[in-house]
Amino acid sequence: MGPLVTQLFGLISLTVALDNGLLKTPPMGWMAWERFRCDTDCKDDPENCISEALFRDTADRLAEDGWKELGYEYVIIDDCWMSLLRDEHGRLQPDPSRFPGGIAKLARYIHDRGLKLGIYADMGTHTCMGFPGTTLDKIEIDAQTFASWGVDYLKFDGCSSNPVEQMLGYPLMSKALNATGRPMAYSCSWPVYIGGLPPNVNYSFLGDICHLWRNYYDIQDSWDSVQGIIEWFSNNQDDLQPAAGPGRWNDPDMLIIGNFGLSVDQARSQMALWTIMAAPLIMSNDLRNLDNCARAILQNKVAIAINQDSMGIQGRRLLKGNHIEVYWRPLSHSASVLVFLSRRTDMPYLYHTSLAKLEYDAGNYEVCLPAMSYLVSLLCTEMVS
Ligand code: GLA
Repeated sequence: MGPLVTQLFGLISLTVALDNGLLKTPPMGWMAWERFRCDTDCKDDPENCISEALFRDTADRLAEDGWKELGYEYVIIDDCWMSLLRDEHGRLQPDPSRFPGGIAKLARYIHDRGLKLGIYADMGTHTCMGFPGTTLDKIEIDAQTFASWGVDYLKFDGCSSNPVEQMLGYPLMSKALNATGRPMAYSCSWPVYIGGLPPNVNYSFLGDICHLWRNYYDIQDSWDSVQGIIEWFSNNQDDLQPAAGPGRWNDPDMLIIGNFGLSVDQARSQMALWTIMAAPLIMSNDLRNLDNCARAILQNKVAIAINQDSMGIQGRRLLKGNHIEVYWRPLSHSASVLVFLSRRTDMPYLYHTSLAKLEYDAGNYEVCLPAMSYLVSLLCTEMVS
């Protein structure tokens, strides 16, 4: 980091703080990107294109299929919702053919179902898919536009900008969102664009201005991608784990459970690891067509309760060896949770451990919850049979 950037940083940190009481536990909901990408072809692919119908349908499913009661509340629009031009007042506007009712009307639809609306914008000249970006001079007007539409959550990406612009823009957007008076959750992709780790990323400052942040590359629909993310977060846990807490979360990206790339066991593993990591539980799948196993995994009450634990302490990888890893997370009421992740291919494999190896003091412990994979196996079996 050059001296100019460091100086700016000092200035900004004196003037900005985002504390609107939101996201005391990790956000839960649904986001379009991983599953629906930038499909704008509503003529040939009306079911899957990025349009108001997709978000209305998803809101219906969240409200009617038991998701909302479990905490899945945000419906988040990602890239490719915009018109290529701002309106005559310089405001962003949705593509008129795909969002004929406008975003405010969509927000009302979503709010009427007891849910919340998230939207996507990009700190830079263009979004990652080439739609209008939010340059420094547009930050205020865009924050106000989102507030006037009734938006509850902003994902602020960072394509097409340089580190100095990002250093200015992310805190400015935080301030501009605050200034609207509408409580909006603020998700910053900033770390991804500057390497994800200290000293480039100052996580305590980030926690003061954003509720959550993407640290690492985009998730894709494969177990390789999920494993790569788990590996990066665990290898860097000394830097990342202390950054998380109520109102400030690391974001390893969306849950891809229910799509094409994961087996049932791999889907369980993603859910278990995201739970341990106190990660946002933001699905990207097609809730209109979801098989029973995926539903059971995503709706697992034990996993959700652990993910949403009020202490908000992110878990850690305790052990790694023989292609088996053990993860641990402390919970409220003196409880804690362990996850055993096997990457072995010579199953069945008998794994021996001890309290000492798992860093528990000698003594008596009550096992209060059966393992999640066991629970989910039962659920899947019951629902399939
Ligand atoms: C970036 C983000 C993704 C998604 C796309 C949209 O790659 O990391 O999550 O928002 O942009 O273009």
